Amino acid sequence: MAPLPALDEIDLGNDAFVERIPHETFALLRREAPVWWYDWPGGRGFWCVTRHSDVVSVSRDTKTFSSAQGANLEDLDEEMMAARRSMLETDPPRHTRLRGLVGPPFTPRAVKAYELALRELTREILDRALPLGEFDFVEEIAKELPIRVLARLLGTPESDTDRLIDWGDRMIANTDPDYADVLHDSPASEAYRLVPFRSPAALELFEYGHALAAERRREPRDDLVSKLVHTEIDGERLTEREFDTMFLLLVVAGNETTRQAIAHGMLALVEHPDQWERLRGDPQLAWERGADEILRWSSPVLHFRRTATADTEIRGQPIAAGDKVVVWYVSANFDEEVFEAPERFDVGRSPNRHLTFGGGGPHYCLGAHLAKLEVQVLFDELLPRLAALEVTGPVERMRTNFTNAIKRMPVRVTARGAR
Ligand code: HEM
Repeated sequence: MAPLPALDEIDLGNDAFVERIPHETFALLRREAPVWWYDWPGGRGFWCVTRHSDVVSVSRDTKTFSSAQGANLEDLDEEMMAARRSMLETDPPRHTRLRGLVGPPFTPRAVKAYELALRELTREILDRALPLGEFDFVEEIAKELPIRVLARLLGTPESDTDRLIDWGDRMIANTDPDYADVLHDSPASEAYRLVPFRSPAALELFEYGHALAAERRREPRDDLVSKLVHTEIDGERLTEREFDTMFLLLVVAGNETTRQAIAHGMLALVEHPDQWERLRGDPQLAWERGADEILRWSSPVLHFRRTATADTEIRGQPIAAGDKVVVWYVSANFDEEVFEAPERFDVGRSPNRHLTFGGGGPHYCLGAHLAKLEVQVLFDELLPRLAALEVTGPVERMRTNFTNAIKRMPVRVTARGAR
């Protein structure tokens, strides 16, 4: 690990995450200032909560730590929040009803039934990618599975998955000049202050969603979009804006995140050949424990934010009503109080109480079981087919402090039996 910086030198802006996750910064915060005020240059400052137990207690206390003023770092006025609010930025009891509407296809039992279909999709993806020999792992493998699974659940045609990927990338990577139409931290983004991620891509996705909703209104099918347009909550249907933000949330939340778990998982196995060897000899280990260690290690979502609804305190540190409180999952996942040798990638780690899907409470990731199954199936299918995989060029990361994102990872593969 790099040497610990001084507290007053800490930078948690987007540029600080371009080379790698600054784990030494989080180690310092956990040790010296577990509830630390960061004078964020991008807007009002915020409290950084970096210890595992504090991330859990903040996430579960929705009365004191509300999601209704925003889940990301950006300061939103009432007009912006009203226009952009999704389920993620809603507190109970409204949240409970919205979640009930989209929950059924994501329960452990429902997800278990997708395993066969996931395997078929994965095989198709690998059959196409592996014979290429040299390719970008993110582009050909990691990107493909999550979006195709979502497309099936939502009921979007398979031919549209590239467009969904493109919209998702342009929104999530709104701080990276490689993808963003309008950089989030630039004055030009002011024109998009009323749309999610301040991104024109959100408007294009809304338009696409409207056309799909109209089709499903006329002819319902067994998919999530049909459910969103037909089911009533408290005798009411979702408003057009509620439909838009729910559709967008589902497309964005399940796409980029799972992609990153897969990409980082592959990279971690390449960088830790002894762990790859362990999995090679024991597929059950990969399924039962390896997937969770990949999820801990990759921490695709670095943080989410809450806002204090009243004067309170965390670990003795007073927090004023209205202050933003940011829970850093990536730090909690490397908390030495909970994980033995957290800096070690250990595919047999048990117990593994990672907070990759959140600290618990009502917003705990809706897609957690699905995402884990995708990681399990992908590696279960991929590893036996690989004699070797080398990373042949620079692993390029996205400029963002929100997700732990690899943009490109050139690889050369030798398929089993091809040597
Ligand atoms: C490895 C992949 C994934 C990671 C790391 C991840 C992470 C997260 C995190 C950290 C949260 C917020 C938890 C909180 O605030 O307490 C969340 C919420 C959410 N996730 Fe995931 N997620 C992943 C995959 C998925 C998938 C496949 C879907 C499927 C559509 C999905 C849908 C959602 C939704 C809808 C929410 C909002 C839940 C709510 O507000 O009630 N996620 N996710």
